[in-house]
Amino acid sequence: MTLKQVYTNSLLPRRETEILLAFLLNKRREFLLTYPETIVPPLIYKRFKALEKKRRANWPISYLTGHKEFYGLDFKVTPAVLTPRPETEMIVEEILKIDLERSLMIDLGTGSGAIIIACAKNLKNKSTQFLAVDISRPALNIARQNANLHGLNKKIKFYQGNLLTPIRQQLINQNLIISANLPYLTSTQVKKAPSISREPRVALIAGSDGLKYYRILFKQLSAITYESLTLLCEIDPGQKNKILALSKKYFFGAKIEIKKDLAGKHRLAVIKVK
Ligand SMILES: C[S@@+](CC[C@H](N)C(=O)[O-])C[C@H]1O[C@@H](n2cnc3c(N)ncnc32)[C@H](O)[C@@H]1O
Repeated sequence: MTLKQVYTNSLLPRRETEILLAFLLNKRREFLLTYPETIVPPLIYKRFKALEKKRRANWPISYLTGHKEFYGLDFKVTPAVLTPRPETEMIVEEILKIDLERSLMIDLGTGSGAIIIACAKNLKNKSTQFLAVDISRPALNIARQNANLHGLNKKIKFYQGNLLTPIRQQLINQNLIISANLPYLTSTQVKKAPSISREPRVALIAGSDGLKYYRILFKQLSAITYESLTLLCEIDPGQKNKILALSKKYFFGAKIEIKKDLAGKHRLAVIKVK
């Protein structure tokens, strides 16, 4: 069977078929597009059919290939971590705009490590220190592997625990840059979205209004003395007003902005306290 014939018979969208075939054949997608008459060996076709079946059962493509690109970098992903999303790249872009001397960057709910690794790779200021926290040990294991892959295992320190609890002492009197793509959905939202049904629930669900972890984090931060704080929280668009109210409650006098993603949806709360 040729590639062209596989495309015709595939039960998946063309783009997904190409990604899976490129993965199975260990070729770039450009190769597949240039040589559509390439023969697909029977064993590869059998493996393609197995992946096609899983994809139709809502397994993310990235879990099937074990990879996901984020901010132009390749990340290992498994079902232990959330697949990094393009909209989350906004957090990285915002952080790269900041040029703080002697700052401490913390990535809460690091998952695959995508945010902190993209920042550590691209931040010009060499004096920045990097800490990452996740409650999930299997997720931290993947984040550490990704830090290794990108040569950052010495630069980023990883901690297991609940939000700021494992690193609280290190934050005192520092210039803090905190990225938080914490779980922000409700269980009802997750139940209604089959496309995320295979991702870890610990990465998705946050209480009855999706703000459980941001509430705890804001409270933890309000009990710490820091020099300055830039806090970036990814949100569900429907949480705009609630996160604004919560930010005003816990960060008196802060500059608060809610930024939209490329789809025009309110996606990122940026809270700055001097
Ligand atoms: C939405 S995922 C984000 C993963 C990654 N930062 C990204 O942007 O792709 C949320 C992550 O928060 C972690 N998490 C959930 N509750 C947590 C808590 N109480 N403390 C620390 N991490 C937590 C989950 O294990 C998961 O890896």
